[in-house]
Amino acid sequence: MPSALPEGDPVPADGSLPESATAGFGTRPFLFYVHVPFCTVRCGYCDFNTYTAEELGPGVSRASYAGSAVEEVRRAAAVLPGAEVDTVFLGGGTPTLLDPADLGAVLKAIDAEFGLAPDAEVTTEANPDSVDRASLERLREQGFNRISFGMQSAVPHVLDTLDRTHDPERVPRVVEAARAAGFGPAEGGSISLDLIYGTPGESPGDWRSSVEAALACGPDHVSAYSLIVEDGTALARRVRRGELPMPDEDDLADKYLLADGLLADAGLRWYEVSNWARDDAARCRHNLGYWTGADWWGIGPGAHSHVGGVRWWNVKHPAAYADRLASGRSPAHAREVLDTETQRVEQVLLEVRLRAGLAGSALDDAGRTAVPGLVERGLVEESAWAGEDRVVLTRDGRLLADAVVRDLLG
Ligand SMILES: C[S@@+](CC[C@H](N)C(=O)[O-])C[C@H]1O[C@@H](n2cnc3c(N)ncnc32)[C@H](O)[C@@H]1O
Ligand code: SF4
Repeated sequence: MPSALPEGDPVPADGSLPESATAGFGTRPFLFYVHVPFCTVRCGYCDFNTYTAEELGPGVSRASYAGSAVEEVRRAAAVLPGAEVDTVFLGGGTPTLLDPADLGAVLKAIDAEFGLAPDAEVTTEANPDSVDRASLERLREQGFNRISFGMQSAVPHVLDTLDRTHDPERVPRVVEAARAAGFGPAEGGSISLDLIYGTPGESPGDWRSSVEAALACGPDHVSAYSLIVEDGTALARRVRRGELPMPDEDDLADKYLLADGLLADAGLRWYEVSNWARDDAARCRHNLGYWTGADWWGIGPGAHSHVGGVRWWNVKHPAAYADRLASGRSPAHAREVLDTETQRVEQVLLEVRLRAGLAGSALDDAGRTAVPGLVERGLVEESAWAGEDRVVLTRDGRLLADAVVRDLLG
């Protein structure tokens, strides 16, 4: 099961925020994340806060979930000043296990309470098994304009090790159906595919086939993540028992470079270490908001929010979440006020992973002293962008992003 929630400061029952949080609200992009905590089966590698029908228990149901989420949107409107919403992202779990009308109801509540910007990016994640042409058309009608499919691999034995249920041939079919339903760029939409590399037993040739199969679908955007063996998952237990090997660092690096080369040759450029897009318009604005200090409200059990340097997180179980909202209380479990130094450290951690690089002004003396050495080792370049000095990862630097961050933080 997913790990426990962190401790933090108590939150008032009405969820009200300190004045310091709401002071500059509306001057930064404002995003909504909506967590949908349901899956048909749990993939062995996944530790997200999600529940199969058997795991869910009493006090909550998929059918009543949208009502609770709408209630939280109303509570957000009661404690925040008004601001237009730039992006909405439905993730999970598997949002597309709910009826498109339920997902649309949450979207309508956000629009009614805050107002969606005319060019708002509205994404849903989708498991390839959970959609078809008709449901994709209904999602588009509800206002979704971006869809992100959990493809992971095109190779049956790899999908099997990951406990994925879909047939690899389903992915090109659902991408085509999404395009026909209006999710392509011609209709102002965008289609993304998620891939995972480094699964035990995946050969370099398997990984090449998966990237090539993804590219054959003509996606606008690809995310490729190295497999993380999360504590407490079925995958971690299999690795511990010696049934499966731990992903190997050199193999992961080779696979990253292989993917980056194939994606670049197909016209998809990296804009964050694990994300590639056809052009700037196809980048995920929602995720860019997380990485560049936007304000966001996370709806749903276990969802995290961040407004003006205050971060809070909701109770984790869907039944506890529904219960809080039904009794007129905030679903927030705890919160913390981020001090200036913590905000700076987070900026370094996130921004350096972007193609646009890290603003030099985010570095302290130790960080500035580390830059020449990193340039010398070929891990970063210094560049000027938007009138500011930036530190940008090289290709080799992208492979060692965590080590670069450690040096920059001194
Ligand atoms: C919520 S899931 C996507 C939507 C849908 N639930 C699905 O899996 O098709 C988000 C993405 O996180 C990635 N992910 C989840 N657990 C991971 C892990 N342990 N290592 C690497 N990537 C992981 C997968 O690529 C997955 O597509
Ligand atoms: S379908 Fe997605 S969210 Fe659900 S268990 Fe699998 S990876 Fe996790």
